[in-house]
Amino acid sequence: MSSILTVHARRLWDSRGQPTIEAEITLDNGITGRAIAPAGASRGKREAVDLRDGGIALNGKNVTQAIAGINGPIADRLTGMDISDQRAIDNVLIGLDPSPMKTVLGGNALVACSLAALHTAALNAGTPLWRHIADLYDCVPSLPLAEIQIFGGGAHAAGRVDIQDFMIMVPGASDFDEMMEITSEVYFAAGDIMASKGKRHGIADEGGWWPEFSSNEDALETLTKAIEKAGETPGKNVVISLDIAASEFRDGNGYYFSLEDRKMTTEQMISTLGGWIDSYPIVSIEDPLAEDDTDGMIAFTAQFGDRLQIIGDDYLVTNRDIVAQAISDKACNAVLLKVNQIGTVSEAIDTFMLAREAGWQSVVSARSGESEDSTISHLATGLGAGQLKVGSFQRSERMVKWNECLRIQDQIGRQNYAGGTPLSQTWWHKTSFA
Ligand code: PGA
Ligand code: ZN
Repeated sequence: MSSILTVHARRLWDSRGQPTIEAEITLDNGITGRAIAPAGASRGKREAVDLRDGGIALNGKNVTQAIAGINGPIADRLTGMDISDQRAIDNVLIGLDPSPMKTVLGGNALVACSLAALHTAALNAGTPLWRHIADLYDCVPSLPLAEIQIFGGGAHAAGRVDIQDFMIMVPGASDFDEMMEITSEVYFAAGDIMASKGKRHGIADEGGWWPEFSSNEDALETLTKAIEKAGETPGKNVVISLDIAASEFRDGNGYYFSLEDRKMTTEQMISTLGGWIDSYPIVSIEDPLAEDDTDGMIAFTAQFGDRLQIIGDDYLVTNRDIVAQAISDKACNAVLLKVNQIGTVSEAIDTFMLAREAGWQSVVSARSGESEDSTISHLATGLGAGQLKVGSFQRSERMVKWNECLRIQDQIGRQNYAGGTPLSQTWWHKTSFA
């Protein structure tokens, strides 16, 4: 048995220039592993909260207290523990902060420690992280199909358009390499279209082109044109995935598109999305309605669940109990997995396992505030989760995750890829365009 000798936290800075935490675990045999906490901007109301200092300095975002929690009580309790027992380590973390939203020590402190333990255990076992995860949770590993953002929006682009993520998926590519190539073609075709209209004004938080559009649908039309300009047939090899992040423009009991000065009821919101689903090659929609609009989510899933992947992000916050309720409500059919929404690896795995048992799809996801940490590439592969969402095709905190998948591809073999199957054998064949 290799046991934990020290746990140490330091302050680093994330992709938005905000303070974040790196946790570092050293074993009695000298092996050291580390991980960095990510941070969301369009956060779910029920997700684990980051512990931040508040006050005036650094906009209240400093993490002194969260770091003190790691270097104090967390280090005290983890020291001496067996690094191979992730569940026991996570249980200690949860025991130290049993609050439902991890408000005592902070979700940021817990996630950094939990992920650092996972890394350290893999290094100690001498296996790549993805393989360690597959072994630990008895999963069949495979490289994920990527969801890659072409235009950013919502909270990641100062609300310039209301919809948050305009993404593509390339299920038709035979391997991860080809998927990257086609994505690159579409990404730069979209940039060229924006430039030709004099509307290329930089990029949003996750690296997607800045959304200088006249309406939300204008972004969808432009994305479809970019797929064509890249020499692909929309709906064939390349399809569209949207993260509506509808909680961000919830307006009382309804919704409000500020770009179009348009108020909608839940029914009108559903019919707006329905119009897009009929007109564009959309195969996946995340958070189509707000996190508190359960009736809307149920109605949307009843109407489109047989031809669309419907993902709960803010709606489910990687919380097993909330996913259990949504399964019984039939309120979506896929879960977004963000470890920092729930706090520890073990809790995120429990959520993943429950979703998988229910026949749901799973998408492992980054946050809008990221770093050079590429744990999620290994998590998506090790669990054989099927899909990975990381943001766009620019900025190193995004590319590090895609590039890590390419390294993993060399280890796992390019045939072990969740995409590449004939469309007729996959969940997206049910969409009207495939
Ligand atoms: P966030 O958004 O990381 O800013 O919360 C990402 C998402 O909604 O998927
Ligand atoms: Zn989301």
